[in-house]
Amino acid sequence: MQNINEDTITQAVLASMAGCRDERLRRIMTSLVQYLHLFARDVELTEDEWFKAIQFLTDVGHITDDKRQEFILLSDTLGLSTLVTSQNNKKPPACTEATVFGPFFVEDAPEYDCGDDIANGAQGETCFVQGRVVGLDGSPIAGALLDVWQSDEDGFYDVQAQLQPGEAPQYRARAKLRSGPDGRFHFRSILAEAYPIPHDGPVGRMLAATGRHPWRPAHLHFMIQAPRYETLITHVFRNGDKYLDSDVVFGVRSTLIADWNRHEAGIAPDGTRMERPFYTLDYDFILNPAAATQ
Ligand code: BEZ
Ligand code: FE
Repeated sequence: MQNINEDTITQAVLASMAGCRDERLRRIMTSLVQYLHLFARDVELTEDEWFKAIQFLTDVGHITDDKRQEFILLSDTLGLSTLVTSQNNKKPPACTEATVFGPFFVEDAPEYDCGDDIANGAQGETCFVQGRVVGLDGSPIAGALLDVWQSDEDGFYDVQAQLQPGEAPQYRARAKLRSGPDGRFHFRSILAEAYPIPHDGPVGRMLAATGRHPWRPAHLHFMIQAPRYETLITHVFRNGDKYLDSDVVFGVRSTLIADWNRHEAGIAPDGTRMERPFYTLDYDFILNPAAATQ
């Protein structure tokens, strides 16, 4: 393996992995090397450009920590997350579609009962959300675990708050809830608003350099888990939002767009007298049975 040149380098790298015993890893690495080399040949990559790319990935690594996941942002903004989500979530057309996970989910969200106010101090106009979790035949799925999370009116998730040393994180506009015996769930929260993804780092520079904006249309995140059903990770998007056709992470599905209805001050769906206008959202989720039970 000497005197390797432009014409022999790809084959040399592939041959060097012949001893890889993990078949899946060998397939992935073989394809990755082939496409990477093809890409470098296709664009006739210069050394200066190659070094800038290394510098870019270094910056992505440096800004990433337990609160800021720049690699997910990179994958999302390059459409890789939507591609992987789409090719791994094929379902019957009647099922609720999946979309990107995003970087702001947390495992240990606080548990609430249906009807509770999950805003927990997050600022925004009041919104009452309700819906059902059902199977393909419309039968209710009782006891489904719903994780819900959203940003506040300024476009920030609770986990983005700058904490003082020793200050405990406060979970806001984020909850775990269970559907009732009739598959129904309902909670009080705040109105979803459009927001820009974090764009003060390398991914933001890449967006600006390629003439792109950093905005996501207003949405509410859901992860819904129930025994014998596939886990659904999705959003509900707010009808009328000006970014529905240019979501920076390519996550919008038309079936996931719903009306947030505005109401004048008065009696809310939970019977509360509201002194200010409020919103309601009604959205049902249809889960796909897990493969073994189909
Ligand atoms: C989100 O919706 O939370 C999100 C998704 C992708 C990138 C950044 C944020
Ligand atoms: Fe989001």
